[in-house]
Amino acid sequence: MFNPFSLEGKTIIVTGASSGIGRQCAIDCSRMGAKVAIIGRNEERLNETLNQMEGEKHLKVIFDLTSTDSIKTIVTDIVSKLGQINGLVCCAGISNILPLKLMSVEQQEHFFRTNVFSTIELTRQVLSIKNVSKDGASVIFFSSIMGVVGENAKSLYSMTKGALISASHSLAVEYAKKKIRVNCISPGVVVTPINAGQPYISDPDKRALLEAKHPLGLGQTSDISNACIYLLSDASRWITGQNIVVDGGYTIQ
Ligand SMILES: NC(=O)c1ccc[n+]([C@@H]2O[C@H](COP(=O)([O-])OP(=O)(O)OC[C@H]3O[C@@H](n4cnc5c(N)ncnc54)[C@H](OP(=O)(O)O)[C@@H]3O)[C@@H](O)[C@H]2O)c1
Repeated sequence: MFNPFSLEGKTIIVTGASSGIGRQCAIDCSRMGAKVAIIGRNEERLNETLNQMEGEKHLKVIFDLTSTDSIKTIVTDIVSKLGQINGLVCCAGISNILPLKLMSVEQQEHFFRTNVFSTIELTRQVLSIKNVSKDGASVIFFSSIMGVVGENAKSLYSMTKGALISASHSLAVEYAKKKIRVNCISPGVVVTPINAGQPYISDPDKRALLEAKHPLGLGQTSDISNACIYLLSDASRWITGQNIVVDGGYTIQ
């Protein structure tokens, strides 16, 4: 059957696979035929992801991505067990609501280490000659609508997400000759553990206001993983350096 979105024969790494959007990406990549290395810190929740994946040749990697010095070791291990990499989905991330007056340098360092430095170091190690497929690869950074537009007290999160969009532009140019594509996905609000406890989700009145800002309503994890499947597949072979905004219309108003 004609299926330009197939991931059959591809090896893909998904970070943040123990929860929310990353979990859905890992499950859907497996359904589309890929072998998947799933990375997260929480073993129990990684096992829950693994139990929902199709196929058998997947790999669970329990790892804190802020330990950037050890990223080379885990990438080497993944390649030795699953083969060279065709796709990297950098979904792990943290978010917060923090006014500037309360923002310390330590908090900035923690956010940049988690959302940006770990993503760039993982990408650097995966894209080294011996680790990446000779057929090329697709790298996806997870940004956010907060990397594109602003919101009260979201500047720290926005800084990290904007950095990823900027990095993807130049990396896309740098790696195009090796058939390696680098794109971003910027979701609107999808209810997951990253935001479930925030007042704008838990307070019915605030949630109604937020929903009104999304003309198509809030998203589901599969709305985002479907965009991932597209960017990982050969159907998107001519797309690089783009930021695909998947937000139910939040940013068009
Ligand atoms: N949900 C939204 O509305 C939304 C909107 C825009 C952008 N995004 C972005 O989408 C991505 C996924 O978000 P989500 O909603 O799926 O959040 P989530 O459910 O909270 O999942 C976050 C994931 O990141 C992992 N993670 C965090 N810090 C880590 C670290 N130091 N080392 C390794 N893994 C780490 C967590 O792993 P453990 O739990 O195992 O520690 C978890 O799997 C994030 O980058 C987020 O910024 C989300």
